[in-house]
Amino acid sequence: MTQQQSHPIGEQFGGIPLRLPQVAASLDQNEEWCEARIGNQWRRIRLHDYGEIYNVPNLYESLFPRRLKCCSPERVVGLLEEVLSDFTQDMDDLRVLDMGAGNGMVADQLRRSGVKTIYGVDILPEARSAARRDRPKAYNDYFVCDLTESEHADFGQLKAAHLNTLVTVAALGYDDIPTKAFIQACNLIESPGWLAFNIKETFLDEDADQTGFCALVRRLRRQGYIQVQAYRRYRHRLSVTGTPLYYIAMVATKRKPIPMSMLP
Ligand SMILES: C[S@@+](CC[C@H](N)C(=O)[O-])C[C@H]1O[C@@H](n2cnc3c(N)ncnc32)[C@H](O)[C@@H]1O
Repeated sequence: MTQQQSHPIGEQFGGIPLRLPQVAASLDQNEEWCEARIGNQWRRIRLHDYGEIYNVPNLYESLFPRRLKCCSPERVVGLLEEVLSDFTQDMDDLRVLDMGAGNGMVADQLRRSGVKTIYGVDILPEARSAARRDRPKAYNDYFVCDLTESEHADFGQLKAAHLNTLVTVAALGYDDIPTKAFIQACNLIESPGWLAFNIKETFLDEDADQTGFCALVRRLRRQGYIQVQAYRRYRHRLSVTGTPLYYIAMVATKRKPIPMSMLP
């Protein structure tokens, strides 16, 4: 059997019937797909085609947290809460920029933890539409923009919001948020400020990383731009073939603005 052939297993999850591929070898995360029954039709969808997923209400939730056991919004926000309690700081002191915000699952978690001010940013208009449709009260405001651009009209509004925390979940690396956008987002929050994010563990491995995040994080730590307060390896989710995917959740203090010369 090749990776292209499948014998999907039908299963009903959270209202959206899903079928996952049964393949001999595991698929890279970038190649993962599933079949979802939308209306009367089974549609094949790549897991990284977020726009297509957000357009179908409840599909993201049925697939990632329910079927594939993704726990990253809770894990990253939980780690941030733990660190803040060590610093005797309250979650309601935070003014958060949620980068790669998607349909608002992270904002939901932040609200449950007591955060009152949350601004979302995503590159996809479908993400903002889904957040507005599914979680209309999650964000104070939500911008569709590309943070790799050097200047964008929305950056001014984000700076004026005096944000002091950057949260980014399941959005760094792959074809998602690159190192340049991460630095720009770090600089949209004040110094000192908080950073809470997760990343696939191999992207922090010197020998395996091709995203540049391993080198960037190392430089930022060594040169005192950030101080890591918590670092936790955990199972982010299962792959479509049932293999555990491990990520690192990190909470750090951002101490000063980060120059673009830090880019690897
Ligand atoms: C796996 S989803 C995670 C969504 C949300 N953080 C969560 O945990 O539920 C990754 C998100 O990152 C967004 N993204 C990818 N590249 C981006 C970029 N350059 N700037 C902003 N968002 C980006 C995608 O559009 C997508 O909504």
